[in-house]
Amino acid sequence: MARTRSVPEESGGGRSLRARPRRLRRSPALRDWVAEVELSARHLVLPVFVRPGGGPATPLPSLPGIDCQSVATVADFSRTLRTEGVPAVLLFGLPRRKDPQGREAWSDDSAVASAVRAVKRASPETIVVTDVCLCAYTTHGHCGAVDGAEVDNDGSVERLGRVAVAHARAGADVVAPSAMMDGQVAGVRSALDRDGFSSTSILSYATKHASAFYGPFRDAEGSAPAFGDRATYQLDPRNAREALREMRLDADEGADALMVKPALTSLDLLARARRRFDLPLAAYQVSGEFAMLRAAAAQGIFDERAAVLETLTALRRAGADLLVTYYARDAARWLGGGP
Ligand code: PBG
Repeated sequence: MARTRSVPEESGGGRSLRARPRRLRRSPALRDWVAEVELSARHLVLPVFVRPGGGPATPLPSLPGIDCQSVATVADFSRTLRTEGVPAVLLFGLPRRKDPQGREAWSDDSAVASAVRAVKRASPETIVVTDVCLCAYTTHGHCGAVDGAEVDNDGSVERLGRVAVAHARAGADVVAPSAMMDGQVAGVRSALDRDGFSSTSILSYATKHASAFYGPFRDAEGSAPAFGDRATYQLDPRNAREALREMRLDADEGADALMVKPALTSLDLLARARRRFDLPLAAYQVSGEFAMLRAAAAQGIFDERAAVLETLTALRRAGADLLVTYYARDAARWLGGGP
């Protein structure tokens, strides 16, 4: 191999290698000079849980260090994030009550709609993304409308359109349909356009694998399915070509940006999507990935800051533009030189 073949040295002594990659690693300045990707706070998105009404933010036991905001606390919280350098939030709501249809999801006074208005009033610059799904709002915990024992695709798409319109009406910049129903991007796009929200963007959860890593999120939202699982709509983790097909369909249906999740189990998809699509790509480091890193750090297995920044850098290297992570606040602080 050319890389390791030695070449004769002109002036005697030592072994001469033509290629010595270590030459450019000799100092921090050299390493920074040739670094291929940048990790910056401007890419970050913090998932934020919001419950209806007032009262203080409360800890979420399954996500150590992450609080559930109330509609009353989320405005101040968004201002804090802004000063900390986190530019965007992804809002998840808890309902007052669940029903089989998940009606509260498209109500104009859902926790999410109220939170969008509160955040936009308190911190207009904050980019507000909303999760568009039904699982937290339905008694059965599925992401769509259930007909018998089946999740009804087209009926669900119609409801997701209503949810997106309610969030857009409240002032969301971006809606993120996450139910993995066929045609949901097209359905949401036409519902938004029909109601005059042609400027509201769609970040599609294009490839969402049926994953064990959503566990802590489902605890936080109380959204585990009451029967069956999500395998009839979320992607089989064995499939990458099918994932790329989902991305292609969503791009063709009008998605403005594409997301993959979980992040660390989808690095191959990010890399392949980066070559195929010119849309912005987002990677979602999901609740189980966060909880795993937190738990390991708490046990002294590794340094949390170094490990987290390494995972986020790997996502950038694989091709992600946007990074959705429960570590967004810490990452913004670390990247700004804070402790
Ligand atoms: C809603 C949704 C889920 C997540 C994001 N949107 C849960 C699920 O599919 O069960 C998971 C996010 C996380 O684990 O942080 N469908």
